[in-house]
Amino acid sequence: MHLQDFLAQLDALATKAPPRIVSAVDLETWTEVRNDLIGRTSGELTHILGQLGALPKEDRREAGQRANAVKVAIEEALEVRRVELAASAAGSGPRLDLTMPGRERWRGAVHPVSLVIDEVAEIFRELGFTIALGPEAEHAWYNFGALNFPPDHPAMDLHDTLYIGDEQVLRTHTSPVQVRTLQQYPPPIRILAPGNVYRSDPFDPSHAPMFAQIEGLVVDEGVSFADLKATLSHFARRFFGPATKTRFRPSYFPFTEPSAEMDVQCGVCAGSGCSVCKHSGWVEILGSGMVHPAVLEAAGLDSERYTGWAFGMGPARTAISRSAIPDIRILYDSDVRFLDQFAR
Ligand code: PHE
Repeated sequence: MHLQDFLAQLDALATKAPPRIVSAVDLETWTEVRNDLIGRTSGELTHILGQLGALPKEDRREAGQRANAVKVAIEEALEVRRVELAASAAGSGPRLDLTMPGRERWRGAVHPVSLVIDEVAEIFRELGFTIALGPEAEHAWYNFGALNFPPDHPAMDLHDTLYIGDEQVLRTHTSPVQVRTLQQYPPPIRILAPGNVYRSDPFDPSHAPMFAQIEGLVVDEGVSFADLKATLSHFARRFFGPATKTRFRPSYFPFTEPSAEMDVQCGVCAGSGCSVCKHSGWVEILGSGMVHPAVLEAAGLDSERYTGWAFGMGPARTAISRSAIPDIRILYDSDVRFLDQFAR
């Protein structure tokens, strides 16, 4: 007989012993299992040891040691099980309570803000938009200069902007991706640029120093304000429901002219006025406008030939008004009691 064959038998015994031992449900079956495994007369280990003499002399020492190790391991496992069985027989150990409700499994879920971003991206994907991304640590020229901000614009103030160097800022909006995209790709352009932006704002029920934005940009020949209105109204109906009313209010951004804010009728009160829409019946969803010629020129495009429109929306605000969430900070708390509701 070869040493390998002897050791293989030991391994097989070592593998099947633990499940057999835990399968003993009381002291009676435990005794049977012990006798089967290591009983002195008919146990499997005894049977294996009986073959020691058939091994070459020089292998017997190792074979004996290995057999002993298996025996010790089995004895220890038997003892653990014996104590468990004795305890539960005495009424003190863990008992199966089949009436107890099952434990629910933890499930991961998409964050409510990411849910909005995904849905918006899907709607614009159907319209031929692709995703574009830009850096969060941005050059001030992309964040302000190329976007036609006048040199003393308040948004550039230290109080409003997080500078990380003389010329480097944590971008205050996703609009710099407009310029980066226009520099890199020739029109026609239809992009959606989601990402995080930073402002030196306090953390209060309606502000956060970091939040997500979704930028949209269309540039081509012959693009007009009618395209802007039609596309954004279509988006609102797809996102909030087919009966959704929208309204455009004149606004101002340095990088769009003319500019407009788009409101949708409040979904929580259907326009009759509630705390979510501050009793106006309308919720502001995004800022938009026709791309300012100066922005096209800054990106190296001929503004006589090309026109475009752009928008920027805050998915956190949208999530809040859609789900009537009273405080924006809860979106950043990672409190699973809140987040778990979006998993259902
Ligand atoms: N960048 C603007 C903001 O952060 C939003 C905007 C984007 C407005 C594109 C018009 C066009 O408020």
